[in-house]
Amino acid sequence: MMHLILGDAELELVPKEIQGHPAVVKHAKSRRKRPSNVILDATYHHQAIRSKYGAEAERRGRPDIVHFFLMNAQESILNKEGKLRVYVHTRNNEVIFIEPETRLPKSYPRFIGLMENLLHNGCVPNCDSPLMRMEKMSLKSLVEEIGEKTIVLSESGKRVDWKSYEIPEDVTVIIGGFPSGDFLSNVSFASEIISIYPETLMAWVAAYEVITKYEGVR
Ligand SMILES: C[S@@+](CC[C@H](N)C(=O)[O-])C[C@H]1O[C@@H](n2cnc3c(N)ncnc32)[C@H](O)[C@@H]1O
Repeated sequence: MMHLILGDAELELVPKEIQGHPAVVKHAKSRRKRPSNVILDATYHHQAIRSKYGAEAERRGRPDIVHFFLMNAQESILNKEGKLRVYVHTRNNEVIFIEPETRLPKSYPRFIGLMENLLHNGCVPNCDSPLMRMEKMSLKSLVEEIGEKTIVLSESGKRVDWKSYEIPEDVTVIIGGFPSGDFLSNVSFASEIISIYPETLMAWVAAYEVITKYEGVR
């Protein structure tokens, strides 16, 4: 079984300190929602993000990374064959547990609506038999709960020959859910931190590399 975690994902509701920013208020109004119930999205909120977060502004508000990642992972052959478990860990130390049979909306606005419900209510579509549920949890605690050998993918990790790299049969792999910079979480608990390519890859490309590598050997 492979456990695949999108770590430190830039997925969050609009933080309190920018809920009153005109760009946020206008966007929330157009969606007939309260600013506090809207997901932070750099596409719509970049002015508000830039006004408050300085050096961090470039990485905040990227739910699109989570969408691409989940589409790849949940629709993969590995998942259809029952050999994959997928989790999203957020910058606010929340973990989203995703049932293997979960199929995400392909439409981005519908995906955002679903994730807003999840971040607000803690489970979707309902809490009796949720397809996705969220818990407050650090990346380290999640890895400890899973209890397998853990590999972190990072541009600055130890360079490996990816073509010949052998992935363990029972493994947890962590991929960063942010567009630039480094993990916010301390990932020194990992057995290995590896770089698989000399350039930066998008998180969902790195995820698919790992998934297809695992499919190829199992
Ligand atoms: C856009 S990158 C984030 C950029 C970041 N500078 C980094 O450390 O890789 C998103 C994620 O994709 C994975 N990734 C990107 N390029 C990689 C590479 N060359 N080797 C291994 N993983 C990579 C990492 O998990 C990374 O956190």
